[in-house]
Amino acid sequence: MLMTARIDDAEKMEIETLLEGIRNRYGYDFTHYSRASLKRRVDRAREQARVPSYTALLDRVFHNERYFDEFLKSISITVTEMFRDPPFYRALREKIVPIFKTFPFVKIWHAGCATGEEVYSMAILLHEEGFLDRARIYATDFNKHSLDRAQEGVYPVKRMGVYSDNYHAAGGTGDFSSYANTSYDLAKFRDYLKENITFSYHNLVTDGIFGEMNLICCRNVLIYFDKALQDLVLTQFLGSLRHGGFLCLGNKETLNFTAVKPLFEPVVAKQRIYRKIGDKHAISPI
Ligand SMILES: C[S@@+](CC[C@H](N)C(=O)[O-])C[C@H]1O[C@@H](n2cnc3c(N)ncnc32)[C@H](O)[C@@H]1O
Repeated sequence: MLMTARIDDAEKMEIETLLEGIRNRYGYDFTHYSRASLKRRVDRAREQARVPSYTALLDRVFHNERYFDEFLKSISITVTEMFRDPPFYRALREKIVPIFKTFPFVKIWHAGCATGEEVYSMAILLHEEGFLDRARIYATDFNKHSLDRAQEGVYPVKRMGVYSDNYHAAGGTGDFSSYANTSYDLAKFRDYLKENITFSYHNLVTDGIFGEMNLICCRNVLIYFDKALQDLVLTQFLGSLRHGGFLCLGNKETLNFTAVKPLFEPVVAKQRIYRKIGDKHAISPI
């Protein structure tokens, strides 16, 4: 029993050392990611690297930049799809877009956009509402491989059936296949959809914010952070949003129990769409 506890403690210390090493060497800070899920992913990377310990993994990560790139890929969770959670997109279309239509111009930030499916979903929705040319969309992620794929906008044809079903469930009434050019087993989304999208590298833990946003979509990202990091990132979002701007989270994420809760009001609570009603100085120091 005592022996097992000691092994667990030693493992924990090794993992913390690995995370500290990565932070110091490469500036990627995973020290406030939820431990259980991060450990599973690090274990997988360790298995793939065929090294006997976390310390050996750190040695490889530290001395081999090319391997670090591989390591980052294997510990990232980039699962996504078009019109993921259709009721969320329906709520955007029905409740938020009509408000946007009263503005001359809107700025939207997709933070943690992964391979871009959610950004093209937004572009299609805005296009159908006749508003795409009045939107400037920033799509960011810290995974460069995903970001490259987002910029290309090319996805497996075999996913198009599910995406089309999601699109219709989200209130789309057009022909979903008309948004992409299909060749063999790939579907490339049409260039006009990304004319107003800027794809760029951005790390939510270490980088600054984009200002004056009307809407921030950060879905299924905060779930991987501990509470302290969630509060930090949400406070950044607060600073990034205009007064009255909207914050959209994933359906397993919530502002309840966070430092910024009093500064937002739910607009469509079930779909995790919130509106900024207050400002930073109202947050009492923790
Ligand atoms: C599960 S995907 C979510 C994708 C999309 N938002 C969705 O809901 O379908 C999580 C994304 O967050 C990104 N991510 C995780 N930590 C990040 C950080 N510190 N800065 C920027 N992106 C991050 C990952 O690279 C990944 O692409």
